[in-house]
Amino acid sequence: MISNVKTLFTLLGAFAIAVAADGGYTSNCQNVSIVDLDKKHIGLRAYCNADTGAPQCSILDFDLCYGTTGEYQKLQEKDYGKLSSNCTTDLCVLPKDSTALSCRCNGHKTSRSTKETNDLISNDNGTLKCFENLATTPPDCAQKPAKSGSRGRYLPSWVFVYVFIPLYLIGR
Ligand SMILES: *[C@@H]1O[C@H](CO)[C@@H](O)[C@H](O)[C@H]1NC(C)=O
Ligand SMILES: *[C@@H]1O[C@H](CO)[C@@H](O)[C@H](O)[C@H]1NC(C)=O
Ligand SMILES: *[C@@H]1O[C@H](CO)[C@@H](O)[C@H](O)[C@H]1NC(C)=O
Repeated sequence: MISNVKTLFTLLGAFAIAVAADGGYTSNCQNVSIVDLDKKHIGLRAYCNADTGAPQCSILDFDLCYGTTGEYQKLQEKDYGKLSSNCTTDLCVLPKDSTALSCRCNGHKTSRSTKETNDLISNDNGTLKCFENLATTPPDCAQKPAKSGSRGRYLPSWVFVYVFIPLYLIGR
């Protein structure tokens, strides 16, 4: 009986370790940012230490890691979750100095929804990974401009039409 209980606790302990082993990429990856992939897709880029050698650049498509759930389309960790199908990925950011993914989904009718990427994403010998999905290293991995961390990247185009152009015309 006692040995059965011990076995049970040993198994539970092993399970807890297996679960806790997910995530944690921030401890040995640097320069984390969001980058644009094709059209609607965005990904997480980081330079992660491998067993040997210099840190490697890789980009993990968020569509492989996150989706949405419920009436309010909250972000959810989901294997092949297709984030881009219900979220306006152009509005997704990592708020300054953070690794939390923050998006507006469902045609911005909802407020922002946030998930800490470090809870899910791990460093698999230099390559980012969520679930069993490995990131890729495109040839321009390091050159892709970072789009994250910066809120309000551009002035909206109406500012130019209704403010700057009239000011320019008045000023001539
Ligand atoms: C991370 O960013 C810093 C500052 O821009 C840069 O000096 C460093 O080389 C970057 N690290 C990698 C691995 O690219
Ligand atoms: C997107 O949202 C719709 C409506 O809530 C839902 O039916 C659909 O499953 C969602 N798509 C994905 C890929 O989660
Ligand atoms: C980790 O990656 C390095 C170089 O990228 C490779 O030499 C090494 O064999 C890999 N280690 C494992 C355990 O896959």
